[in-house]
Amino acid sequence: MVLIESHSSGGHHGRSIHLQPINFLWGKPAPSLLPITQLAQASHQLLLKDAAAAVENLEYGDALGCPRLRKQIASLLNLFYQKSRVDSTNICITAGASFALPTILNVLTDSAITKCIWVVSPCFYLACRMFEDVGFAGKIKAVPERGDGSVDIEALDQAMSEVEQATKSVASYRKTYTHIIYTVPTFSNPSGKVMPLTCRQKLVDVARQHDGLIVSDDIYDMLQWSSTPGEEETTLCNYTPPRFVDIDRSKSHSSTDLASFGNALSIGSLSKIVAPGTRIGWVDADAALVNALGQYGSSLAGGGPTSQLVQGVVVELLRNNWLEHHIKFTLVPAYRTRRQLMVQAIEDHLRPLGVVLEGPPSGGRAIVGGFFLWLRLPPRVSSHMVKTICAEQELLAICPGADCRVLEDEDVAVWDGFVRLSYSYEEEGNLVEGIVRLARAIKVLMK
Ligand SMILES: Cc1ncc(COP(=O)(O)O)c(C=O)c1O
Repeated sequence: MVLIESHSSGGHHGRSIHLQPINFLWGKPAPSLLPITQLAQASHQLLLKDAAAAVENLEYGDALGCPRLRKQIASLLNLFYQKSRVDSTNICITAGASFALPTILNVLTDSAITKCIWVVSPCFYLACRMFEDVGFAGKIKAVPERGDGSVDIEALDQAMSEVEQATKSVASYRKTYTHIIYTVPTFSNPSGKVMPLTCRQKLVDVARQHDGLIVSDDIYDMLQWSSTPGEEETTLCNYTPPRFVDIDRSKSHSSTDLASFGNALSIGSLSKIVAPGTRIGWVDADAALVNALGQYGSSLAGGGPTSQLVQGVVVELLRNNWLEHHIKFTLVPAYRTRRQLMVQAIEDHLRPLGVVLEGPPSGGRAIVGGFFLWLRLPPRVSSHMVKTICAEQELLAICPGADCRVLEDEDVAVWDGFVRLSYSYEEEGNLVEGIVRLARAIKVLMK
């Protein structure tokens, strides 16, 4: 417990109050939702019950990841995305979604050839750093997200044409794309929005036309539910539009065709649905592209970036549809309740101040999910000021919208009038209190 001197508003003036820190910043599962016992059992099973598997997973591994895990991930994707046809040749295991990005960029782009990285904005605030690290400083461009989660395809098409020159890269095992388009189209981090189907279809067409690769960060897809009262899912539900990779595959080439790299890939991860510390993610892409990722020099030297040992433990964990049950019976009910509590508290304490929750359109069945709520602040209230007051006076951590701008292209889409709140990490009992504190901080700035 932390003792702090209260700020001068909200009726606490001159009184000392006890505040526990509250965290609406971290987009990770709450400690109570981590499957610790199950991971212990899976480790025991791998190391003490199956000598051959134990030895296999303590040796150097395959560049594309443990074959049994690749197969399991392909089955999981086919179960969830019922229209997908994923085979283990489409899967490359990565060290979380985070290390999928540099691997993709190192193998499939060349900063001397690839013209631009187009980033749907607001964006995952660490993504731009990853693009800079592989040589794209000065070539990262924002593509503003609109209210309905779509982007202006005609403007993007035009901008892509403008930066292109006549030469296109020659395909080899290491195809170099002319453009990369990075997006989190489903329950976006930070906006929580879902890009509509028509926009996805048009974006695939534009990527194909301009030799672009859509890198779609789909790591929140499996955490979704209907927010309509009484509509509780009995199976793992996928209500959202098809992934870019599936749209691209449906458009004429076969996902196992070794001549085609395709124009879209999907990144997934166990970070949000099992535990971030597993550092297990994957790329689901056409077999030729996956094969190219397997040629990554460092991966050839003994296995991809994720520990063989952890992959073996996860193979044990995923047996018998364990993850499907974990998502359905533990995670979705927990996040549904948390989201409902937070949305109600926002309605009670923030809406009267003029704060607007951006979200799914009202009416019809509202499909929600992921970890985040995106709030529009009242006019002239700055997200950085709110963050500072929350941190200093309320012991409340939040993510200011301004941090989610596309670095280097900041003028195109400015997000200082927004904040992102995560309901995933903080325990249920603290959610309403956190919103009350946020309301006090905003009131200070509205004076
Ligand atoms: C959109 C997005 N991509 C990637 C990551 C990182 O994922 P991983 O833990 O799998 O590296 C996050 C985590 O917050 C995220 O929100």
